Amino acid sequence: MAILKIARMGHPVLLQRAEPVSDPGAPEIRRLVADMIETMEDAPGVGLAAPQVHVPLRVFVFRVPGDRSGEDPEDTPVANTVLINPQIELLTGERVLRWEGCLSIPGLRAAVPRARRIYYRGVDCDGRVIQRTVSGFHAGVVQHEYDHLDGILYPMRMTDMRLFGFTEELARYAAGRP
Ligand code: NI
Repeated sequence: MAILKIARMGHPVLLQRAEPVSDPGAPEIRRLVADMIETMEDAPGVGLAAPQVHVPLRVFVFRVPGDRSGEDPEDTPVANTVLINPQIELLTGERVLRWEGCLSIPGLRAAVPRARRIYYRGVDCDGRVIQRTVSGFHAGVVQHEYDHLDGILYPMRMTDMRLFGFTEELARYAAGRP
């Protein structure tokens, strides 16, 4: 296992459309997924897509930590999950603003409009189908990671640039301190 170097915004790999994985069980894909999980945990982050580690393939990993999940039964904590060749379907036209960061855009956060509820489907390295209908944080993180596979970074989804800032400053003013 290895911690991989993360591409930062400005690197062209983050703007290209990633290619489908032809053999999810191939040894190099298993190694990539294991390394991506280690890199995500080390960062630490809640999601990481293959283009972020300079591999333009349709793979991402994510997790829903206990302190980020909601009350909603569709937004419970989830252990490390891999989705290969995922598809997602937005189940509502309703958009909610969710605060997001990205390991490729370090130090910054923004409120990004996301569908409140989605369905997704993909496979893991053993070809097992993973399909879920989810809401809240879980739905947000999957939309964010899926966007990476299409070369979309969260600032490209923003509708109010005033809700974009350095994590440190946002935290300072959110807490009402000068
Ligand atoms: Ni990201």
